[in-house]
This record gives sequence, structure tokens and C-alpha cells, in this order.
Amino acid sequence: MIQFKNVTLEYPVTRTLALDDLSVEVGKGEFVYLVGHSGAGKSSFMNLLLKRALPTRGEVRVAGENISRYRGGRTALLRRRIGTVFQDNLLLDHLNAYDNVAFALRVTGVPGREWPARVQAALRTVGLDHKRHALPVQLSQGEQQRVAIARAIVANPPLLLADEPTGNLDPEQGREVLKVLQNVNLRGTTVIVATHARDLVETFRHRTLTLRKGRLVRDDPHGGYAL
Ligand SMILES: Nc1ncnc2c1ncn2[C@@H]1O[C@H](COP(=O)(O)OP(=O)(O)OP(=O)(O)O)[C@@H](O)[C@H]1O
Ligand SMILES: [Mg+2]
Repeated sequence: MIQFKNVTLEYPVTRTLALDDLSVEVGKGEFVYLVGHSGAGKSSFMNLLLKRALPTRGEVRVAGENISRYRGGRTALLRRRIGTVFQDNLLLDHLNAYDNVAFALRVTGVPGREWPARVQAALRTVGLDHKRHALPVQLSQGEQQRVAIARAIVANPPLLLADEPTGNLDPEQGREVLKVLQNVNLRGTTVIVATHARDLVETFRHRTLTLRKGRLVRDDPHGGYAL
């Protein structure tokens, strides 16, 4: 699904070395954690996959293609095929859960008549079909994050990137969000989760990549937090 080949990322201007000769492959259908101290390069890893940053050296491949070669139109298509969830989910305040999810379908080319079934399926996956009429203020932080996940998966992206998706949540809600991400994975989506949440990584075990100062120092197929 994705492949990093000797990837180095040095941000321009500041010349910060964010990733240092990183090589790794993640297969279709995998669930992978990305752990490491603050500044280790987790978000940079995701930025490269979304082409928000370009590798200084090396190659980033998605579905077998070197995405550095993509120009504008292809880049937009690439981003449409990757669902994203971040710590701050930024739902639209004036739209209910259903409409927040449906909003993401506008740019996908999915015909309007298919929207209701798609949105309903996504809300069901995150366990919030019964709250479809609720506005963000009427939802807990964890529920809002689950709506954000529904929004990220409603167009059925083959890859979901979650960057500290439980960062703002209490432990109970964090576990709920993790279970939802696992459900998304069980339905076939490749999932990559960057996180500091040691308890979650230890409870819900999956392959774990550990970054230290931009280098991949551990790739543990059975998971576990080793910092
Ligand atoms: N846009 C940017 N321009 C310049 N330097 C950056 C940029 N984004 C990140 N960096 C630097 O690159 C390094 C890696 O940052 P990155 O955001 O990937 O770390 P992280 O592992 O996601 O950290 P955290 O756990 O705090 O989110 C850090 O030294 C950071 O200061
Ligand atoms: Mg980060």
C-alpha cells in the first residue's frame, strides 16, 4: 500500500532534519501505530503521504506509484483517496453530524442519490447513527472525533491517517475511538495512527513503528510501546 525508500526530509528554510533515511513498507489492510517522542517525525511521515511536504531524498510510493512525480490534478486525486483524522477534528459548528459527514462527499463525485446510504453506513461504523441530528456542541469530544472519523471514511478511502486522534480525549473516549479505528480497519482500510497514548498501544496491539529523531529505530510486528 505504501512504501518509503531511503526517505530523508529536511524542511526548507529551517533545515530541520525531520526524517532521516527511513525505509519501511506498510501492506494493504494493515493497522500500524507510529510512536516516538515529540519531534520524532510522526506528523512529517503523514505530511509526506499527503504530499504536504516533499522528500529531500528517497521515494514515497502509494499503491506502487512514486507520488513525487504527481502534478496538481494527480495530487488532488491522491488526497481524495486518503482519509485524515487529526487531534482537532474541526467539525462545522452549524451542521449536524449527518451533514458534517455528507459535506465530505461534495468533492468526491459520488452521485447525490447515494449520499444518504453512504453517510448512514459511515455513521453506523462509528456507532453514531442515532446521533445524526445532533450538532457538534451537543456531542462529547469523543463523539465529535467519531463523527470526524465517519467524515474521513465516508468516501471509502483505501488509506486512513490518524494523527493523535485521541490527543484531546479522556481514556474511556480514547478507547472508543481506537475501537472505531479498528472497525474501519476490519472493513479493509489500511490505518496508520500516530500517537503518544502508551496505554492504547499496549491494550490494542498492532504493528508498531518507533521513530527517534527521524530514524526508524524499531518495527515490532506484535506491537507494544518501547520508548
Ligand atoms: N513545517 C515545518 N517546517 C519546519 N520544521 C518542521 C515543520 N514541521 C515539523 N518540523 C520539525 O520537524 C521535526 C519533526 O516534527 P514532526 O511534527 O514530524 O514531529 P512529531 O513526531 O509529529 O511530534 P509531535 O509528537 O509533537 O506531534 C521537528 O523538529 C519539528 O520542529
Ligand atoms: Mg505530530
